[in-house]
Amino acid sequence: MYRTHTCGELRITDVGKNVTLAGWVQRIRDLGSMLFIDLRDRYGITQLFFDNKINPELLEKARKIGREYVLQIQGTVRERESKNPKLPTGDIEVVVNQLKVLNPSDIPPFLIEEKTDGGEELLMKYRYLDLRRKPLQQALLLRHKMAREIRNFLDSQGFIEIETPFLIKSTPEGARDFIVPSRLHPGNFYALPQSPQLFKQLLMVAGYDRYYQIVKCFRDEDFRADRQPEFTQIDCELSFVEQNDILQIFENLAKHLFKSILNIEFNQPFPRIPYQQAIENYGTDKPDLRFDMKIHELTNDLQGKGFKVFDNSQYIGGILVKNAADKYTRKKIDALTNFVKQPQIGAKGLVWIKYNADSTIKSSIDKFYTKDDLQTVLNKLSAQPNDILFVISGDKKQSLNALGQLRLELGTQLGLRPKDKFAPLWVIDFPLLEWDEEENRYKAMHHPFTSPKPEDIDLLDTNPGKVRANAYDFVINGVEIGGGSIRIHQRDLQEKIFEVLGLSQEEAQEKFGFLLEAFKYGAPPHGGIAFGFDRWVALFNGSDTIRDVIAFPKNSSGRDLMIDAPAPVSKQQLDELGLELKNSNK
Ligand code: AMO
Repeated sequence: MYRTHTCGELRITDVGKNVTLAGWVQRIRDLGSMLFIDLRDRYGITQLFFDNKINPELLEKARKIGREYVLQIQGTVRERESKNPKLPTGDIEVVVNQLKVLNPSDIPPFLIEEKTDGGEELLMKYRYLDLRRKPLQQALLLRHKMAREIRNFLDSQGFIEIETPFLIKSTPEGARDFIVPSRLHPGNFYALPQSPQLFKQLLMVAGYDRYYQIVKCFRDEDFRADRQPEFTQIDCELSFVEQNDILQIFENLAKHLFKSILNIEFNQPFPRIPYQQAIENYGTDKPDLRFDMKIHELTNDLQGKGFKVFDNSQYIGGILVKNAADKYTRKKIDALTNFVKQPQIGAKGLVWIKYNADSTIKSSIDKFYTKDDLQTVLNKLSAQPNDILFVISGDKKQSLNALGQLRLELGTQLGLRPKDKFAPLWVIDFPLLEWDEEENRYKAMHHPFTSPKPEDIDLLDTNPGKVRANAYDFVINGVEIGGGSIRIHQRDLQEKIFEVLGLSQEEAQEKFGFLLEAFKYGAPPHGGIAFGFDRWVALFNGSDTIRDVIAFPKNSSGRDLMIDAPAPVSKQQLDELGLELKNSNK
């Protein structure tokens, strides 16, 4: 037996026991006549004690040990003289009487402790060492527990987990596909699935009316903190359900996770906010509801007074920040102005109106507006002394987006977005289509299999942009955690949508013929949802990036620095696949 206990197990009640432990050397403190080693495994840390008086030879042997050596020791548990209340094992230590080095270690490239000194690149290159650290261990444990709770819950609701293939056909819509050349069929390619969307729909046609899968998905898209090229979805599909059934079941899943993982209880139903309202009130379709501070439209209130910037704007909107006029000094306002003027946000400027604590009004547009004008605006928003109003104007879509980003920034600055507070909600009534300026055509806002609201179907011919979808997103704290829809299950409606999306009949047949064919054979009404598992774990873990909750993630340029991928393949491999690189120097 390698060990009788783990390194996180021994307590004061174990004093006097002879134990065998195995683990890694985290830290060595050599005090001359005594030496302490912190021995670590994934369960915790136990202090080992070596003493010249007790066993000088063993002390000498211990002195040759370095960090991250793998040891096996035998010894006796005793009460510590100076206890460490921060460690669960902090009341005891093990007086070692036998020491075996199971494997030595080179000096690790960074500190393997709670806080490390390693830079991003080094941590990624030696991910297996980084994974020895407690924060990462905790993240992976949390991930495991969440997966288990999800399976338990879905199982209790009659869902069965079915695997779907990874080598499928390329049908890019949304992100780019990763493609895989076929050796047996030169010139032909598989694609890795962006999601199991079509297979889960086909499972519905096949009669498996409650399916789920915790499954890898692959998307060749640009990086962000909350995106990875391969990520994990909790993918679900149900037959004979309406939107409300789906929202209810998965709201219960979310509540189950909140309760079982974080011990947080939600007694009220989650808010359901229509897309349009989310955009107008929060400037985004994934609002952070941990704080209020809604956007107010002020177009009519501020136009027509001769201030050209506003008069020439399609839209004017403002955010009232309560009790913060004194906090927003000139310098801070300048910084906020620079924030909203960043190219990715794109506001032209930031107007401010301060309702001072002494009830005087001061603003950046004093030249153009009388105090009465400004007072009227402030009154409309029920402003109180020491409130400050920030205003952005311009193109409606862009201004709302900028106001949305400003709102988040203000929320962060004012400490209104604590990581241990959670505000889940549903966004519903998404538009079915959005106009793609670059491609000059409509694109599916969710995906092409999403059902329009029956009452809006007539608009498909007259005003496609106005058609609403039976689609919904699940949002927590401003993060899109999941999205889904009721699907189209009628062949003619699906064909019609392909047509609106600009797909010729031949293209539709070539790409999705199997789906259209399946719809001929009794497809039941169905719908579903998929949650970004990594995002959900990251949120529960308080992580800013999903990389922290993935064992072996890619870095921000899509590389795995540990195994050095992607990498070239040999000429022989290319030949077998019938491939030739255009520029073989690259
Ligand atoms: P969608 O594309 O909205 O829907 O994806 C569902 C959820 O997956 C997560 N997600 C990602 N997470 C990490 N990295 C990525 N690159 C990434 N892309 C998406 C998000 C998102 O909400 N088939 C549909 C679902 C359905 O209709 O049932 C789909 O894939 O949290």
